[in-house]
Amino acid sequence: MEALPMPAFASRVKTSWEIDRDGLLEHSEKITEKVTEKIERQGVPDDPELPVTIDRKDLMTLPHESFRLLLKDSISPLPLHKALTLLEEIQQSSKSTFGEYQLLALAKALVTDIGNIRFGPEVGLGIVKANAWVIQPWIANIRAMARDLSTVPKRPKKAIVHQADSRSVDRLLAQNSVDAVFTSPPYPNEKDYTRTTRLETVILGLARDMAELRGLKRTLVRSNTRGVYKDDMDDELVRANKTVQDIAERIEKRRIEMGKTSGFERLYHRVTKLYFGGMSRHLESMRRVLKPGALLGYVVGDQASYLRIMIRTAQLLGEIAESLGYRVEGIEVFRTRLATATREQLREEVLILRWRG
Ligand SMILES: C[S@@+](CC[C@H](N)C(=O)[O-])C[C@H]1O[C@@H](n2cnc3c(N)ncnc32)[C@H](O)[C@@H]1O
Repeated sequence: MEALPMPAFASRVKTSWEIDRDGLLEHSEKITEKVTEKIERQGVPDDPELPVTIDRKDLMTLPHESFRLLLKDSISPLPLHKALTLLEEIQQSSKSTFGEYQLLALAKALVTDIGNIRFGPEVGLGIVKANAWVIQPWIANIRAMARDLSTVPKRPKKAIVHQADSRSVDRLLAQNSVDAVFTSPPYPNEKDYTRTTRLETVILGLARDMAELRGLKRTLVRSNTRGVYKDDMDDELVRANKTVQDIAERIEKRRIEMGKTSGFERLYHRVTKLYFGGMSRHLESMRRVLKPGALLGYVVGDQASYLRIMIRTAQLLGEIAESLGYRVEGIEVFRTRLATATREQLREEVLILRWRG
């Protein structure tokens, strides 16, 4: 289950194994030939070393409302033109089964080769290149997919990916139907998941304007101040949780002491309460779909992103889960890292819960 369309789409394709592998390769090689010829005729060959003779005003681009969602300079005009030409061809010519693979191969190439972004680990700009290969990395991704598919057993298990908000999982799944949960949910760390996948989300047309983007953000557990809305109410669910309230108060107190007054900083304490409230809503709705004795694993990390106030995420989620009738079976540390600002050890852990039923 994933709320955002891009990772949900990627997960869906990556778990669709029953495809005609040779058909995918053959069909994609044809697209390669056709688009390569087309862009060469237009005067914008795939090879960035070759001269470009296309008139800039003839370059394809995105509608203004979509373009403004992109992080500035995350893709240059020439590679964008070539990517949109390829996209158009995929959309026009593909049977739906091949089309999804071909789109995912394009999404990957956008992030790794075509665009100018870099992860460090947050998304940012790398070298802004005027031109880049587009068709070549795309077809290389298709060939890699075909190779991977050859390793899949004959009768693979069926996987279903839901694009949905896991805070209302009970609207989607049947009562008493789930044996196990394993998930890597957000943590309160200021990460904006809609930025991480923005380039490919926008180019594939999965978010076309600000209103659609905002609609998607609203389906997320609140974990960063860019995704907080006035009418958010998940904090109500942790009103009686003393630990969460104490942390939020300490964050706000420190903000005032430090004289920090930006709009984002003023929201730090609120987003912390919204985060734990949202996770509480998720755990609450899970109760209706879990089978008694079901086991759950949540991969989460300690955080000190808000003015260095330590948030022991797994421990706190465990307390919330206990109050909702789960048993904490354990918290297993799988990694620690040193927070440079505080010199404290931050743990990445798996919180293991059992539903008592
Ligand atoms: C730490 S990432 C994990 C991503 C991916 N599952 C993985 O393991 O690499 C957290 C993910 O939770 C998703 N998410 C946030 N709020 C959600 C919600 N309410 N329902 C479903 N997914 C959500 C985010 O979009 C993001 O992809």
